Amino acid sequence: MAKGQKFYITTPIYYVNARPHIGHAYTTIVCDAIARRKRMLGFDTYFLTGTDEHGQKIERSATAAGKTPKQFADEVSSLFRQLFERMNISNNDFIRTTEPRHQRGAQELFRRLKDKGFIYKGTYTGQYCVYDELYVDAAGPGAPCPECGRPTETVSEENYYFKLSSFADKLLDFYKEHPEFVRPETRRNEVMAFVRSGLRDLSISRSTFKWGIPVPRDPGHVIYVWFDALSNYCTAVGLGSKDEAEQKKFEHYWPADVHMIGKEIIRFHCVYWPAILMAADLPLPLSVVAHGWLLFEESKMSKSRGNIVRAETVIDVLGNDALRYFLLREVVFGQDGGFSFDALVQRYNSDLANDLGNLASRTLTMIVRYFNGTVPYPSPTVARMPADDKIKEQAQAVIAGFGQLFDEYQFSRALESAWSLIGTVNKYLVEQEPWIVSEKEGEESRARLATILYTAAEALRIVTALAHPAIPESTGKIWKQLGLGEISKFDLNDLKWAQLPLGGKLGKVEPVFPRADKTAIERMQQMEQERTASTPANKETSASAPPAGEGAQPGQPATQAAHGPTEAAPAARGTVAPAPAATATPAAITKDGKISIDDFLKVELRVGEVKVAEKVKGADKLLRLEVDIGTEVRQVLAGIASAYAPETLVGRKVVIVANLQPRKLRGLESNGMIVAASAGPEDKPVLVSFLEDVPIGAKLK
Ligand code: MSP
Repeated sequence: MAKGQKFYITTPIYYVNARPHIGHAYTTIVCDAIARRKRMLGFDTYFLTGTDEHGQKIERSATAAGKTPKQFADEVSSLFRQLFERMNISNNDFIRTTEPRHQRGAQELFRRLKDKGFIYKGTYTGQYCVYDELYVDAAGPGAPCPECGRPTETVSEENYYFKLSSFADKLLDFYKEHPEFVRPETRRNEVMAFVRSGLRDLSISRSTFKWGIPVPRDPGHVIYVWFDALSNYCTAVGLGSKDEAEQKKFEHYWPADVHMIGKEIIRFHCVYWPAILMAADLPLPLSVVAHGWLLFEESKMSKSRGNIVRAETVIDVLGNDALRYFLLREVVFGQDGGFSFDALVQRYNSDLANDLGNLASRTLTMIVRYFNGTVPYPSPTVARMPADDKIKEQAQAVIAGFGQLFDEYQFSRALESAWSLIGTVNKYLVEQEPWIVSEKEGEESRARLATILYTAAEALRIVTALAHPAIPESTGKIWKQLGLGEISKFDLNDLKWAQLPLGGKLGKVEPVFPRADKTAIERMQQMEQERTASTPANKETSASAPPAGEGAQPGQPATQAAHGPTEAAPAARGTVAPAPAATATPAAITKDGKISIDDFLKVELRVGEVKVAEKVKGADKLLRLEVDIGTEVRQVLAGIASAYAPETLVGRKVVIVANLQPRKLRGLESNGMIVAASAGPEDKPVLVSFLEDVPIGAKLK
């Protein structure tokens, strides 16, 4: 039963501390493709996305940018909204956590839990990671966050607690009864192991800053940002509203069918969220589906690493569908996938311009030329050949398999199967040579020509219908060129061979995927550089520094993030808590020009080994180095060419400032700084070195 059945799908709501990049676009595109397919199948689909705007991280980012949190959130949230419009994302709603409807709903949820006795007050003293907005059950002050590697901060405050610990057994029973709840399977195992290792109560309010939703009846506290954010999935469809229509909407759409998320936020969605819903007596989402990361230059694309690519860049040069197709086809869903401009252009040219583009353009052009733009009648008998039936059979097999693969989130394999049909039909056209058949006289040749072109056009129609959720713009155009009108109105349930109306008139035939020329890659790279240099919102305004390394494995919920209250007396605020981790807020410099130890600790100095060293073209002083710092190999540009020949550096240990904001020099990105003394009147650089042997990655303190 599909038609009319509701289908509610959500993306995570995006933090507004940074402009969107294609990592965010990826989650949104995946959900959009799923939502479009469901609509084509007749589901009453509700697709939600939005922005997560509260919390200490955003407050600090705003301060660093010289704005109020609201101004800051308004600006960045609108960038997300504009981008999604430009990307033609078919979301039904865009929720902002600063909207009254959300605040009301989140407070309502909090109140429900409180009234049911699942919330109590206690004191928390421990570590907090502002970047992940996560309570960390790690060692003492300054210990790194096990999720992202950034230094944690000590917090000590009176908080409200959610009795998460009483839900461990219920959660385990639930996972057992609903094996489809966490997907893929490997993630489910991680989640179950995490819960089995024991749950502690979760602090769900903060009182040391103001940027958040006030706790009902205790406005000195704001609701913990993850409790606030997770509740969006309910508040967007009406939870907490007094309006009857909104209440009905909630009854209708809740629970969500799919929460699509990145693997790093599984614990919040698969442990905290279901426990909160259980406590509130609300139905649980049917599934939480985790995808992998989009990597660029071999690490997770993220603003703090400075290795981001904007969706706009790809869209400007190759169009929306190029980005969508690449992400859905190239990335094996669930796993991490690399992004590169080279691979993007290659995929675009081979699969879209060559395969689909060519099939559409030559099939349709020949129908215009030889049949005056009217779909020809295929011969059922005389002019029929086994090759025609083979196409039909393959098309039927693709129809049968595509949906199943797609619905199992195997987008890459689903598209691969559709493209294998395209490949077969292109080969068929080459073998059948309709252009030669067209030159032959007689009824039979004419019938043969009609059969070939009908077969190709019908296969094209089938691929177009199947691929529509993945590449909606171009398939919409091809559908019109096939003379079929509005593709989104097509009922995908009915898709079968031989539905192309015989004698139907084609629309205007135009190329859909112009080939990308050699300059496309350069243009995109250039645009990225210009955007990085010119966009103020793009500059690092986050409260967090680049991570210490790539070592942490988000998505493996090994850290206990929930904290029970302690009996310890709260430490005086500001005396125990170290200063914010590498915040963009300037370090407090005292009158005598000294900085505190905490400020010094923000600088992450590490030992690295030079793996590659070479001159930078057109820059006398610069060398491009690739430095292994234990957790990753970094590209660093160093102004030491006057003192060191590149070949003398390879294999040498150096000291690198590992948590500097990346910057571009001569078009190359520098990710860190090599520490050197500046000697003599000419300021000759002298590299820091050690008398003893030191391991790669060692930290300097
Ligand atoms: N605000 C929280 C989510 C709250 S949901 C109740 C958050 N926001 S985020 O902006 O940091 O990330 C949101 C999502 O963006 C991630 O879960 C992931 O889906 C996506 N991605 C961000 N960077 C990404 C990549 N480099 N690759 C793939 N997806 C990425 O977490």
